[in-house]
Amino acid sequence: PAGPAHVTVDLDQAGDTISRHVYGHFAEHLGRCIYGGFFVGEDSEIPNTRGIRDDVVDALRALHIPNLRWPGGCFADEYHWKDGIGPREQRPRMVNSHWGDVVEDNSFGTHEFMDLVELLGTEAYVNGNVGSGTVQEMSEWIEYLTRADDSPMAALRRANGRDEPWRIPFFGIGNETWGCGGNMTAEAYVDVARQYSTFVRDHAGNKVTRIAAGSHDGNLHWTDVLMRTFGTQLDQGPDGNPGPFQAISLHYYTMTGPWEDKGSATEFSEDEWYTALSRASHIDELLARHSTVMDRYDPYRKVGLVLDEWGTWWNVEPGTNPGFLYQQNTLRDALVASIHFDAFHRHAGRLLMANIAQTVNVLQAMILTDPESGALVLTPTYHVFAMNAGHHDAAALPVHVALPEEAPTVDGCALPLVSASASTKDGAALVSLSNLHATEARTVVLDLRGAEVAGFSGTVLAAESTSAHNTPEQPDAVAPRELTAIRPHARGLEVDLPAASYATISLELG
Ligand code: AHR
Repeated sequence: PAGPAHVTVDLDQAGDTISRHVYGHFAEHLGRCIYGGFFVGEDSEIPNTRGIRDDVVDALRALHIPNLRWPGGCFADEYHWKDGIGPREQRPRMVNSHWGDVVEDNSFGTHEFMDLVELLGTEAYVNGNVGSGTVQEMSEWIEYLTRADDSPMAALRRANGRDEPWRIPFFGIGNETWGCGGNMTAEAYVDVARQYSTFVRDHAGNKVTRIAAGSHDGNLHWTDVLMRTFGTQLDQGPDGNPGPFQAISLHYYTMTGPWEDKGSATEFSEDEWYTALSRASHIDELLARHSTVMDRYDPYRKVGLVLDEWGTWWNVEPGTNPGFLYQQNTLRDALVASIHFDAFHRHAGRLLMANIAQTVNVLQAMILTDPESGALVLTPTYHVFAMNAGHHDAAALPVHVALPEEAPTVDGCALPLVSASASTKDGAALVSLSNLHATEARTVVLDLRGAEVAGFSGTVLAAESTSAHNTPEQPDAVAPRELTAIRPHARGLEVDLPAASYATISLELG
């Protein structure tokens, strides 16, 4: 077996707060995410509240999801919100040209989304249309959503049955404007972003964080151009952001193959296991590089970085619509998630939000629903979100991982086979440990410094094989269980991790 790992945690060195919003979600009008996933309609046999599936809501409430991004994605830049309000039978139809070329009947619109947000007890991240929408349209949407008086849009909202304004803390100024959102250059988009953001007003005490459509992967030029627009406005001291937008986004997906053949979700070799985990680990470097560019213009970190699309992107399940992006979710996806979260915790100072793509039935989902029986399955990724809930709004702790072996080179990069992070909140600490070794168990010595540990407990997510996944027939093939192999050690604790596993250790601090 692999030799013991040494993981040092400085329990008394609380650093930046890990925003709960890095555990954010994303629901696009894509395949069966909204229709058939969240929304089944009032007439469905599946128990629902005003058409929204009760079991989906219950499962997500248990995760305390902090925000939900909607309606896209690429769909956002062809979505006209006024088509999705008023009596359903009168709503115009449109073609969802990005995702399956299907007809969208607009039966799930603004009111349905905000109903979902309220049922989930979460916060709304509405993504506006820059690619094919007007400034006026965007301006009127935020007025419709958030204005309290008798303005034209507030009156229209009331006529459609909602008296009180909603709260919209996050608003996206287009999506992937370098691609599906309009194929613009960074230089062209930055002016568009300034213009559109100007008219996304703060109404009735609602304060919007405007999120400019950002870069992807290692495209630092895009981030540089967006940040350059602030000039020297941001380096005058820690208070205020006078700029046109308050955050910029970034997208990064994990796949093992090229775009044309991204790899199977469930049938993969040991090499592909490591390639996926290596590519997931790359997020740490990407966050560091984009942050470095931002630091140059914004030393006080007034502009947030928002990774509003991340996760695995595999070939669709055989026999399903290629435009619907439906994929299974294995233990490998769970480890991809845990690696991302460790990086998010390390970059807590700059990372304002992150949104996994996507919550139900699309890409790296938390929940899969069967189109025929309606059965709901929680994925391994769901369980990582659940196990990490204690990191929400906790202070990141410094963690140092030392391994006895040299990290193997995978896909051209060194991949240390243990990933870890930790945080503290309310007299407790939570340590996350991922054993990335596909076949070997690993003992971890947790060197806990700076505070007394009065109690500990552990949870582990492991399975029979790296490709294990949950189905309606076997819903708990990958499910968390108590980690009993934790022992006091002269340095703190000693923990045995199964091969290919994720564990959290909760510490009660004395
Ligand atoms: O999440 C699926 C798609 O990936 C989104 O619509 C788009 O923004 C990205 O390319």
